[in-house]
Amino acid sequence: MEPKSCTWLEGHLFSCLLFLIFLCHPTFAAVKTYQFDIQVKNVSRLCNSKPIVTVNGLFPGPTIYVRDGDQLLVNVTNHAQYNMSIHWHGLKQFRNGWADGPAYITQCPIKTGNNYVYNITITGQRGTLWWHAHILWLRATVYGAIVIMPKQGTQFPFPQPYLEQTLILGEWWNQDVETLVNQGNKLGLPPPPSDAHTINGKPGPLFPCSDKNTYALEVEQGKTYLLRIINAALNDELFFAIAGHNMTVVEIDAVYTKPFITNAILIAPGQTTNVLVTADQAPNRYFIGARAFMDAPVTVDNKTAAAILQYKGVPNTVLPIFPQLPAQNNTDFALSYNGKLKSLNTPQYPANVPLTIDRHLFYTIGLGINACTTCQNGTQLTASLNNVTFVMPKIGLLQAHYFNTPGVYRTDFPDKPQTTFNYTGAPLTANLGTSLGTRLSKLAFNSTVELVLQDTNLLTVESHPFHLHGFNFFVVGSGIGNFDAKKDPAKFNLVDPPERNTIGVPTGGWAAIRFRADNPGVWFMHCHLELHTMWGLKMAFVVENGKSIEQSVLPPPADLPTC
Ligand code: C2O
Repeated sequence: MEPKSCTWLEGHLFSCLLFLIFLCHPTFAAVKTYQFDIQVKNVSRLCNSKPIVTVNGLFPGPTIYVRDGDQLLVNVTNHAQYNMSIHWHGLKQFRNGWADGPAYITQCPIKTGNNYVYNITITGQRGTLWWHAHILWLRATVYGAIVIMPKQGTQFPFPQPYLEQTLILGEWWNQDVETLVNQGNKLGLPPPPSDAHTINGKPGPLFPCSDKNTYALEVEQGKTYLLRIINAALNDELFFAIAGHNMTVVEIDAVYTKPFITNAILIAPGQTTNVLVTADQAPNRYFIGARAFMDAPVTVDNKTAAAILQYKGVPNTVLPIFPQLPAQNNTDFALSYNGKLKSLNTPQYPANVPLTIDRHLFYTIGLGINACTTCQNGTQLTASLNNVTFVMPKIGLLQAHYFNTPGVYRTDFPDKPQTTFNYTGAPLTANLGTSLGTRLSKLAFNSTVELVLQDTNLLTVESHPFHLHGFNFFVVGSGIGNFDAKKDPAKFNLVDPPERNTIGVPTGGWAAIRFRADNPGVWFMHCHLELHTMWGLKMAFVVENGKSIEQSVLPPPADLPTC
């Protein structure tokens, strides 16, 4: 727009200029508000009906739509019998851990009858993320999608899709999940596995009573769709495929990738994947399938959730075609798929990989068995990082940090294991005890960190999806067996490694991540398998304040819940 077009408004120059700024400014931030009522609702799946905890009575919960730069206000009002907190998985929450959500880490829970407003500013992020309850196992039913659109006037770095759809993958138990977990804990054992996997809350026709419980996505011949896929399952990494259709991966964890074509994707709990799919096949009904990837010697779970990709005009009576999902234990597919993930790394979307490292961390992931006086068997299964089983504090760690409350946590989390051993050799079944503690690792503001997460054969090897709050990180390398500090760094990808917030550490292998500790506060890091989180496979970083106010934790909001 030419300033000339204002001349007719002579005498009103100021309002004219304001009008021009309004019209031409591409980054007009808005305030988006949502009301989340935590309420119990009866829901039926698999021929059963049971009360579940929901947001606004919806399962899955509502999708949050925002734009990069927006301020998001979510007022969470808790009408359920449980304490509640909501985590905005993947949002960076710069200086603002108060809005991050993990109970007893960045806030005390919202008690029954109380409310809390999560005040979030979306800064430099766009893509698919999600939100979920971050207390007990309530995320089994309390979860939903977050869609962040690019700033107004900014295009996707791939062809504009005709339409888009979120597909959120989950797990369903026929019984009350909290009851099952409590029963398991009394025995010191895991609760039973879920009864179904779900797509948008629905198990699909491979399960009983599925007629009303199949999700269908109608497509038009020749059109391209953007699918925003989220793994909200509690304990399963999943393969996902659509019969007869290839997918082009364009984004993971709200970061654009170099596009590549695949017939199936692998997605770990916590991760998101955006794919483009073109309806370029004969008009028909095609199954969309999701099934667990399990290459560890643990219980095999072969339940397959199914939805339907249905071409417009094809009647519902046509039997859908089933997709070829990779075999359940197909490690090769998993490794080769993950190897294809690369940051887009263009001038507009650079991969700012830290090239020099201030802090080298090496954490072993272990399972174990500790004595338990309250457990029926006298022992309980447990989990640890560097042999430390994290103990949840009684008040929020961020409050304790901000107000310098003594005695809540220590900052001596070990940078490396106390003793080295052949981490991924024969199964180690002796000396499985771990030490307990609320121990954090302190990071200097703006320091660069490399963390190697090493799986071990303590009890058993298994793949572990690790999630870091408050940051994205670059996955610079991964491998099978023991990390070799001499040889492996030479093979790191420091140019266009995938940038994400959750990384699947391979079964009996390792993953190396790098990030810059430029976000002051207390940030949780944990395995996103709820079973392992509960057993203590978690820790937190305290990132110190920088020199200026702009580099320091914001003051807590007035309505921050108390414990
Ligand atoms: Cu999606 Cu700490 O979790």
